[in-house]
Amino acid sequence: MTPMEVVLPTTSLMEEVPSVVEDGPESTVEGGDFPALAMQASVASRSCRSDVGRTSLGHHANGTPTDLKLEAEAKTALAAAAVQPVDRGPALATAGSGAAPDASMALLSSWQYRVTGNGAVAQVLTDFHCEHIKSGGPRGVQEVAIRHILRNDIDSDSIYCVDLAAPFRLFKAWRAAMPRVLPYYAVKCYPEPGILKLLIALGAGFDCASKGELDMMLKMGVSPSRIIFAHPCKRTCDFRYARENGIQYTTFDTVSELHKVAEMDPEFKLVLRIRADDPGARVPLGLKYGAEVSEAPALLRTARELGLECCGVSFHVGSAAKNLATFTNAIENARKVFDEAASLGYRMELLDIGGGFTGHFDELGNVMFGEIANTINAALAKYFPPGCPELGDVRVIAEPGRYFAETSSTLFTPVIGTRDRVVKDGSIHKDYWLTDGLYGSFNCIVYDGQNPEYRVIRSPVQPEPTDTRTYLSTLWGPTCDSADVVYKDVALPALRNGDWLLWPNAGAYTVAGACDFNGIEFTHPCKVYVWSDSSVDPPEEQEQAAEQEGQEATGAAGQE
Ligand SMILES: Cc1ncc(COP(=O)(O)O)c(C=O)c1O
Repeated sequence: MTPMEVVLPTTSLMEEVPSVVEDGPESTVEGGDFPALAMQASVASRSCRSDVGRTSLGHHANGTPTDLKLEAEAKTALAAAAVQPVDRGPALATAGSGAAPDASMALLSSWQYRVTGNGAVAQVLTDFHCEHIKSGGPRGVQEVAIRHILRNDIDSDSIYCVDLAAPFRLFKAWRAAMPRVLPYYAVKCYPEPGILKLLIALGAGFDCASKGELDMMLKMGVSPSRIIFAHPCKRTCDFRYARENGIQYTTFDTVSELHKVAEMDPEFKLVLRIRADDPGARVPLGLKYGAEVSEAPALLRTARELGLECCGVSFHVGSAAKNLATFTNAIENARKVFDEAASLGYRMELLDIGGGFTGHFDELGNVMFGEIANTINAALAKYFPPGCPELGDVRVIAEPGRYFAETSSTLFTPVIGTRDRVVKDGSIHKDYWLTDGLYGSFNCIVYDGQNPEYRVIRSPVQPEPTDTRTYLSTLWGPTCDSADVVYKDVALPALRNGDWLLWPNAGAYTVAGACDFNGIEFTHPCKVYVWSDSSVDPPEEQEQAAEQEGQEATGAAGQE
């Protein structure tokens, strides 16, 4: 099988930020003795949608030596994994229970304990049947996806590989870098159950935008006190639901919303959202939401007249922000609003610095946080100094979405149709049809300004391609809409039905914005959950050297 062949430039922003925050020892993943394949046998069918169309992909009549070898290796590894000795020490210490019901589960618990040092997180990994893998980079998840494809005979479904270790590391890094700022995950960005449960276990709060999101989080057992209903213009039905379910905090930015609150429930704790645009943000939000700072006094006075309780200020600098100074200015403006509110007799207690963060890893797998944390910490120290008598204790929260979601997931889309056309200059233009498109995960191109990168993965059941040339190609989505085109005129090697494209960093604003147009279930992709030792692949040379060392050791052992 040929590994990735085409890599488009990465679209990640803030990459210039140096990586100063390293994964602390707590989040360092151990568990080298965890048999990576132990859970796969029991997991594969459960983690895949039950209605997946089956073909004989994994049992290709003309199975090549490569695919036969792959299957044989997987079977041997599975058999070996099932009889691995169980190291139950740390697991028993956490769980405080007797022997685990079966060997593989006991081993998993043991490994999870060492991975996380956190019983609730370990439970999430168990519940989502996470497979332990070495790397969550494209090479690492590609291996998982291929095993999954073979085991489940998948040939016409997109697959999401969700690495729960990525948001885990990002959460740890966030808490270390900005200890004053508690993240309230923006559910809208990626309401992925594994990620939501993990963040609950880690102690995050949640930013919900609707009755649906509130309901989802409350049903997962989140206390209403850990939720902010961060929508400045709420539907009354959503409002009613929030009130009936004990949600206390909500945002506003207009007089009209204040009247709505007064009518619905004057007990709500109101957070005034102010405008704070980063002109460099990929998705600016200020045109739609956020009161101008100059409008704040009038809004606060109206709230006072209506007998409402204003308790804080929020802002959002725009999604995928770039300019650090925007945060400083916004925090300074928030302080002005706090002071204004104080002059009207309000004692505000909440500062919500919104979203806009990107979460990426450097080549060593460290979270790249860098200057943004220093900038925010410095601005908080200046404008909201702890213990300041005029302010009292101000709680600081943020609403990151993309930060936790983006790197967590890798999307795999098979090629399900091809066409060659001779164009004017006599060259061949290739068309490929994929299982995902603009109505599915790639709505991110339209709504989120993304320019997703991709790599080619060759079919695990077909021989190596003989055509090694590159062609100008178009990648079509699967619906009947001719506007459903993912990329036009990109250079690609010749693809066949059954080859795949791998799309890294596919967690944020992708499947969350999909619909099921044409009756295609874009909103419920097939999923595989993993937990990686590192969020990036090791350098290729390092991996090859380790592989060679392993082969030499096996050879030497065989000769003895
Ligand atoms: C109110 C609010 N909070 C938080 C977010 C999450 O933003 P991001 O994903 O940039 O962190 C959004 C995104 O649109 C938002 O509208």
